[in-house]
Amino acid sequence: MIVYLNGDYLPLEEARVSVLDRGFIFGDGVYEVIPAYNGHLFRQEAHLQRLENSLKNIKLENPLSREQWIEALESVVAHNNGGDQSIYLQVTRGSAKRNHNFPEQVVPTVFIMSDPIEQQPPSSGVKAITCADTRWQRCDIKSIALLANILLRRQAVEVGAAETILIRDGYVMEGAASNVFVVVDGVAITPPKSQFILSGITRDLILEAMRTAQLSCREANIPEAQLRAADEIWVTSSTREILPVITLDDKPVGLEEPGAVWAKVWQIYQDYKQKLRV
Ligand code: PDD
Repeated sequence: MIVYLNGDYLPLEEARVSVLDRGFIFGDGVYEVIPAYNGHLFRQEAHLQRLENSLKNIKLENPLSREQWIEALESVVAHNNGGDQSIYLQVTRGSAKRNHNFPEQVVPTVFIMSDPIEQQPPSSGVKAITCADTRWQRCDIKSIALLANILLRRQAVEVGAAETILIRDGYVMEGAASNVFVVVDGVAITPPKSQFILSGITRDLILEAMRTAQLSCREANIPEAQLRAADEIWVTSSTREILPVITLDDKPVGLEEPGAVWAKVWQIYQDYKQKLRV
């Protein structure tokens, strides 16, 4: 695997970062995960805009221009034989003597790597659990400090579930690493954007595609009771696309099989990817 580190392209084994890097010491950095289909970046403008927002929110100047980002991302994909890949990029506040205050005149660390994506058959449905959202109040920042998300996901894995759906003050927020949709009376509903959820690129694409296809959808707060009574539940992300949840806390969701609305939206999503490939 060839990775990008601070302007160089090199084998993964040769990529080295200082132990004083603030990403390592403090989790002081932000990231993005961007799919590429047949070498073409998926929704690159939206991902790079979200990166810009994350950087602004942590008061770190974007070290690369839009053009430089696209060149570096496309080069990593090309160096790794193109095709379908999941690109990970991370920017940290660089390496400096440990101090909670921002270091002066430090150069941010920029790292990009990429993994092949295997074509997935349509999911037959996954289990999910619910947990209280124990994260901080700036979940709109795509921070590399993910300990709470990791512990919350682990709770799901320990009971054979694929995702943990997070509840804050009686309302659904999102998954440990995904956004959440419910379907109620044929209408797909996802929580509105706020500082408590990540503004998912997959989420936005689903809303846009559903509106274009004249399928009912809206952004609205989802009380916990509505989640538990939903006909369908989906979790969405760049890596998992749109996964139908068929049991929640060991209770069936709808007919305990992927729902009819999910099937339509899943197909629209596959068609969108396919168009990008050619
Ligand atoms: N995470 N919410 C959280 C907390 C996430 O971590 C993610 C994705 C999403 C979905 O965002 P998008 O549709 O833009 O991928 C929502 C990535 C995939 C990760 O951490 O690996």
